[in-house]
Amino acid sequence: MKTIDELIAEGVTGKRVFVRADLNVPLSGTTITDDGRIRAVQPTVEKLVAAGARVVVASHLGRPKGAPDPAFSLAPAAARLGELIGADVAFATDTVGESARATVAGLGDGRVAVLENLRFNPGETSKDDAERGAFADRLAELADLYVGDGFGAVHRKHASVFDLPARLPHAAGDLIATEVGVLKKLTENVERPYAVVLGGSKVSDKLGVIDHLLERADRILIGGGMAYTFLKAQGHEVGSSLLQEDQIPAVLEYLKRAEDKGVEFVLPVDVVVSEQFPDLKAKAPTEHRTVPADAMPAGFIGLDNGPETNKLYASKLADAATVFWNGPMGVFEHPDYAEGTRAVAQALVDSSGFSVVGGGDSAAAVRTLGFDENAFGHISTGGGASLEYLEGKTLPGLAALED
Ligand code: 3PG
Repeated sequence: MKTIDELIAEGVTGKRVFVRADLNVPLSGTTITDDGRIRAVQPTVEKLVAAGARVVVASHLGRPKGAPDPAFSLAPAAARLGELIGADVAFATDTVGESARATVAGLGDGRVAVLENLRFNPGETSKDDAERGAFADRLAELADLYVGDGFGAVHRKHASVFDLPARLPHAAGDLIATEVGVLKKLTENVERPYAVVLGGSKVSDKLGVIDHLLERADRILIGGGMAYTFLKAQGHEVGSSLLQEDQIPAVLEYLKRAEDKGVEFVLPVDVVVSEQFPDLKAKAPTEHRTVPADAMPAGFIGLDNGPETNKLYASKLADAATVFWNGPMGVFEHPDYAEGTRAVAQALVDSSGFSVVGGGDSAAAVRTLGFDENAFGHISTGGGASLEYLEGKTLPGLAALED
């Protein structure tokens, strides 16, 4: 993989450099609630600006359906990038149309433009190679060089991630280089004990990684909505909690394999429940209580790990030499259900091991709960991407930068 420094050394002054970033930031209306992903690509943009390149930043945001949708505009992200780099950032209101062509043509050396959301064009995500290729051809007309730095999207075989680098001389940006360096530490010569904390709502999203980690990790701690499928598989009542009944056979197989292999599989011992899902906007206090995980009352929803679980998980993380954490432990957006997530974050901060927080949600949780980002070994910008890397899959956006 060529580095951005090598690309710059070959000469980028006056050249149009397409930077595929991941500016898929959480928004409330047009307000960015966590700008971590924009800050993560800032060094790459600034390096290119300093070298006199004409920088064309492009990204997806959310999952619009292949047509313009103002709710998913990248305009707020472009404005924030401008604030961060302290310079005007031009914004093209389309991806490969008149506005994009005019905006890029108007860029001076060392100036930056952001294109509108790439997923406003159906070619970006198309499963059809020819349709994706046609979109990549049009994107290629806007640039002379390509820098891949959207780590959060490298697991997507999308036009701007996979097909475009095949059409332009390319290099990996600093964010991708850092992220891959960290993930290597979790896959090659891992320091033990190696503990993994998995949360979030769906077991089905985590099957591949659990499968893979059963061969590699020493401890797997489960929390969040997905924990209830494990508890149900063990025969417990889970009330109206999130449940993926169809995943129970897979979960039972994992529990058995973990036992056979001596991998510690740790599940919540108590949970915080309520009769209603909380209002995440109002954040008003709710009726809730803590119950043992094997005695959840019918009709109640499990919304967070309980205090005993928090102590147990902290003890399982205290002596870990390596920790990977993906997915919140509860509905951390509401203060009544944030303790489980906070406790895991605190355990990582307190541990002297190397800790990696993987994923948009967990990274946003850590920042929302007020933790200092520097207290963690690494906060990854990629959730799905880091999980697929840990699964040992070939990631299209990394493979495309290899040759
Ligand atoms: C993410 O948020 O994980 C990345 O930006 C990828 O987004 P996607 O899952 O919509 O492809």
